[in-house]
Order: sequence, then C-alpha cells, then structure tokens
Amino acid sequence: MSKSSSNRFASVAILQLVLLSLFSGSAAARDVPATSGSRRREVIAARHGAVAADDGRCSRIGRDVLREGGNAVDAAVAAAFCLGVVSAASSGIGGGAFMLVRMAGGGRVQAFDMRETAPTLASQNMYAGNASRKASGPLSIAVPGEVAGLYEAWRQLGKLPWKRLVRPAEELARKGFKISPYLHMQMSRTESGIKADEGLRSIFTSPSDGALLRIGDICRNKNLAKTLREIAKTGFKSFYNGSIGLKLVRDVRKAGGILTMKDLQSYRVKIRKPIRIWEDRLGLQIFGMPPPSAGGAAMALILNILARYGFPRSDSKSEALAVHREIEALKHAFAVRMSLGDPDFVNVTEVLSDMLSPKFAAELQKTIYDNMTFDPSHYGGRWNLINDHGTSHISVVDKERNAVSMTNTVNSYFGAQFLSPSTGIVLNNEMDDFSIPVNRSANVPPPAPANFIRPFKRPMSSMTPTIVLQGEKLKGVVGASGGSMIIAGTTEVFLNYFARGMDPLSSVMAPRYYHQLIPNVVQYENWTTVTGDHFELPSKTREALRKKGHVLQGLAGGTICQFIALEDGEGSKFGRLVAVSDPRKGGIPAGF
Ligand SMILES: *[C@@H]1O[C@H](CO)[C@@H](O)[C@H](O)[C@H]1NC(C)=O
Ligand SMILES: *[C@@H]1O[C@H](CO)[C@@H](O)[C@H](O)[C@H]1NC(C)=O
Ligand SMILES: *[C@@H]1O[C@H](CO)[C@@H](O)[C@H](O)[C@H]1NC(C)=O
Ligand SMILES: *[C@@H]1O[C@H](CO)[C@@H](O)[C@H](O)[C@H]1NC(C)=O
Ligand SMILES: *[C@@H]1O[C@H](CO)[C@@H](O)[C@H](O)[C@H]1NC(C)=O
Ligand SMILES: *[C@@H]1O[C@H](CO)[C@@H](O)[C@H](O)[C@H]1NC(C)=O
Repeated sequence: MSKSSSNRFASVAILQLVLLSLFSGSAAARDVPATSGSRRREVIAARHGAVAADDGRCSRIGRDVLREGGNAVDAAVAAAFCLGVVSAASSGIGGGAFMLVRMAGGGRVQAFDMRETAPTLASQNMYAGNASRKASGPLSIAVPGEVAGLYEAWRQLGKLPWKRLVRPAEELARKGFKISPYLHMQMSRTESGIKADEGLRSIFTSPSDGALLRIGDICRNKNLAKTLREIAKTGFKSFYNGSIGLKLVRDVRKAGGILTMKDLQSYRVKIRKPIRIWEDRLGLQIFGMPPPSAGGAAMALILNILARYGFPRSDSKSEALAVHREIEALKHAFAVRMSLGDPDFVNVTEVLSDMLSPKFAAELQKTIYDNMTFDPSHYGGRWNLINDHGTSHISVVDKERNAVSMTNTVNSYFGAQFLSPSTGIVLNNEMDDFSIPVNRSANVPPPAPANFIRPFKRPMSSMTPTIVLQGEKLKGVVGASGGSMIIAGTTEVFLNYFARGMDPLSSVMAPRYYHQLIPNVVQYENWTTVTGDHFELPSKTREALRKKGHVLQGLAGGTICQFIALEDGEGSKFGRLVAVSDPRKGGIPAGF
C-alpha cells in the first residue's frame, strides 16, 4: 500500500466522504473506538448461512445462492465472480486465488491452489535489463488460475448449476454497477496507469472528458459480460482452450507479453493438504494455506511462539507487552518464511516442519526479550523479502456448516494495469511476487533462491485463508487482503476473538500493527478510511513500543479482514453465525 500519497489521499478522502453519504446514505466521519456498542451494518447475525465479502453486492449474491439451496462452495464461486466485476482492482478472472474448504460431516479440509504460474517463456533473468517490467505491464502477467480453480472446486463440491453462479456477475458487467468509494480510491491511486492503458481507459474513464469515473457513476464492461456469458456456457474450457483464451493471448502478445495458448492449456489446479495447527491451550484446530503460500506456516509459527506466553488476554495488564511479543514473533516468522517456495519446485519439507514445530518455536521464543527489540540480523533472516499486495477475502458458512475461506488476487491495484480489450479482463501482475537475482549490496540480504522464476512455477504468497474448529465443530472462518501484511492482520483478528475474548466486530475493528522484519519498522494503523472511520493504535501503546527500541511509522492503509464466528445459540443445533465485513473497505456481509 502506498505511504507517500497519504497527504493527497487525506483531501481526497474528505471529498469522498461527502460523496459517500450520498452513495450509501451513511453518516459522516466516525471516530471508532475498539468497541461495538453502536449498531453497524458491517456485522450481522444469521441462523442458516452467511457470506462476508468486502463488497455488499457480492455478499448478497452469495447469500441468494445459499438461499436457493447452494452450499458454501457455490456461494463462494458466485461471490468471487461478482468481485471480479465490481472490484476489478483487487481480484478477478485474470488473477488467482487460494480456497480452503471444509465440508461438514466428513471433516476433511481441502486446499484448492489456483495461483497463477510463470509462463513457459519466463526465466530467472528475464527482468535483468529492467526490473520495473516485473511490477507492471504485459511482462508482469502470470498465467491466470481463478476460472480453472473455481470450476474445479464447483465440479467436486458444488450443488447448483454452474451457470447460476456466473450469471449475476455477467449481469453486473452488462447492465453496469456503481463505482464504490474504495474502488474509486484504488482508481485514483493508479490514475496514470489507467489512463495509459487503452483497455482500462475504455472502462474506467468517462468518454466525454477522459476523467476517471466518479463514486456512484455507472460502470459497464460489455466485453467482460460476453466473456462471462461464454464461461457460464462452457465452464473453464473456453478460457483455457478456446475462444476466450485465444483472444486473451492475442491481446497480451500484441502488447509485448509472453503468454501463449500452451500456457493456458497446461494450467492445472493443485489440491493441497492444508497446514494443520493443534492449539491445545485454546482447544482449537486451525487449518491454513500451505506453500506456495507462506500464510498458514507463518501463522503456525507465530501462534506456537505466543503459546509459550499463554497468549494475550483481555485482562492483560500490559497491552503493549502483548503487542511487543506479537511483533517479535512476526519478525521471526518473516525471517524464516523466505526459505519457502513452490513445493513442486523446491524441497520445503525441512523449513515447513520447523515452522510447525513447537520445539522450534520454543527456541525462537528464548531469543525474544520483553524489554527490547533487535536489528533484523538477530532473527536470522538469510533472504531479502518480496512485497506482495492486492487482493480480496471471502468467508462463507452454509446451513450444514460447510465453510469456505478464500483469498483472491490480481496482486497490485488493477494487477499489471493492463486490461485485455477484446475480453474485458484485467490481468494480474503476479510475476512481481517472484524474487529475482540482484547484485549484492552491503546492508541488504540477497534475494531468496527458493522463490526464483521457473516456467510453470507459482510465486510465494502471504495469503492466509483460515478455518478454525473445536473438535469437529466449526468455530470460525477468517482471512484478509493486504499483501505481506495479511499474516499479521489475520493473526491479530484471530487472537482478538479466540484468545482475548473480544466480540467478532471488535476483533475486526481493533487497530492493527504490522512488521515485515525489513525495514526494521513497526507500521501502526493511522487510517481514516473511505467510509469515514478512523483507526489508530493508542498513543500509550506506541510510546511503550518506542521505549523498547521500536521505530514506528503511521500507515494510512493495511489489511481488510472478513470474519465469520460461530457462537453457541440457544435452541439451535448449529449455533448462530456472526459475520463481519471489514469497515476499512466499506464491505457489508449478508446472511439469512
Ligand atoms: C523499463 O520499463 C519501463 C516499463 O516498461 C519503461 O517505462 C522504461 O522506459 C524502461 N527503462 C529502461 C531503462 O529500459
Ligand atoms: C483443446 O481442445 C481440443 C479440441 O478443440 C482438444 O482436442 C484438446 O485435447 C484440448 N486440449 C487440452 C489441453 O485440453
Ligand atoms: C526433502 O528434504 C528432506 C529433509 O531435508 C528429505 O528427507 C527428503 O528426502 C527431501 N525430499 C526430496 C523429494 O528430495
Ligand atoms: C534488556 O534486558 C537484558 C537482560 O535481561 C539486558 O541485558 C539488556 O541490556 C536490557 N536492554 C535494555 C535496552 O534495557
Ligand atoms: C551486476 O553487476 C554487473 C557488473 O556491474 C552487471 O553486468 C550485471 O548486469 C549486474 N547484474 C544484475 C542482476 O543487476
Ligand atoms: C495520523 O495521520 C494524520 C494524517 O496524515 C497526521 O496528521 C497525524 O499526525 C498522524 N498521527 C500519528 C499519531 O501518526
């Protein structure tokens, strides 16, 4: 997320606030304490099923699918297609995703890896002449995986007809949808990229004066509607081995990219065994995403370290000490995680078993001091870090208590900042999540070879879709968007609810803090969002952290977290669902 543009953003935010009250009928700026006394639209209670997406329109589309007898997988598929239309800066069919599914009864949890892969013509040194081509433009595009993955999950586990799940998104693209305040913020941050790309310009600017569309303006994407109609009819085939694929490849090649038909034909969804964490103290079983995501393993390591302290509690006298220990655990996790990579290319057995081992965590915990923090070298980080971005998270629970935790992405805002004109698809820039060789410089560790580019390889990710059980009983579904900060954001919300005993909304509302080891800086939330809420880590906590040697930096951005908790309800065998969409992005959950 951008730090430099926060000032410009502040004035934009004020304007947006005024527009927002017209857009949504909501009140003006609220200073939000970490309590949830007042009623807010971002939390709902439901009996049968709930969908928490980061856009209310997609939550409702998912809920309608549940109401018609679809299950959690059906609802997640429909919501994901919807997000690709109304929130195209964050996710879509030109990107990829990780989907964690737990079907009730059997209890087996499956991880669908539909992450993008490097094209056949990609190579380790392809960006040697110009590293900025890795970050945006046609050479940053990796082979999209979302359509194949959604289709595969639906084929194995879905109930409603495929067409029914794609249709609402097709309709939104065809008839048009209102630009949300958050999408508008993303458009403003990438204005020059949008204006420089023929495809994006044709969708997101006004034909009369060339200016960006405004909040509440109707946006249509006719070619995306056609593409979705074709996908509704033919499943994944037209995308990976048919007319859509041919058009897509033609557009990308014309712009200078290296995508081929063979890349699309060889794309495979991988079904992986999830990370499983037994958390005895909390009496929980936690399922997370395995490599190529570092999310599940990093969360396991952090929880194993914090378990040594007996976890933070709400009655904890020293909030700042709990925050300090979490930050130190996070620094260790970031040091270790860069040895991970795509398990189909790199042997991650040893590092993974370390990250899951309570004994390993105990060794690391011994190096944590309550009175001070250290330079990155203390944590043994051997490899430099990459920054990933982007993204959108959906949590779904249905009436049988099947659960889906799914994180979708195109990486940066509007991915490669390239929209294929003939298909209407925004392409990802997931190649930017690979590490590349650079010449050594004195203070910077070298890039991680485990994450170097190979054809067909999947780049490392921080996405952390998570499902929480107690025995056989579903207790929670959580995950977040926000790049490499996702690990911290998801873990904090998890701890707020499951360890500190906060209610679901407060767990999501609590101000967040982040650390990525390098640079050696704590980023704390100081963010007035597009919906007018203000999030800020208390000054007392900041002061206490400074005294321990932390360097602090305010951040007008961060993670967006969607959380569904299952609470025991009287008279209902399955309990009550409480679903929260993070107010930071203006999302609203839906349920019935
Ligand atoms: C590097 O690539 C960017 C984006 O494609 C381009 O704008 C820039 O001119 C290139 N720089 C060099 C030195 O080739
Ligand atoms: C692509 O489609 C053709 C028929 O149009 C079929 O013969 C071929 O096996 C398909 N290839 C793949 C990889 O699915
Ligand atoms: C991966 O590494 C582990 C331990 O380092 C080793 O036992 C295992 O044989 C390796 N697996 C492969 C496929 O090389
Ligand atoms: C923190 O405590 C350790 C010993 O427990 C001591 O060696 C160190 O100097 C202390 N650091 C600070 C900054 O006070
Ligand atoms: C490293 O430095 C050498 C010599 O200055 C140069 O030729 C080479 O291209 C550099 N490599 C990278 C990856 O920047
Ligand atoms: C929070 O951000 C605002 C706006 O950028 C700034 O004026 C203020 O000083 C910041 N406060 C802290 C504690 O960082």
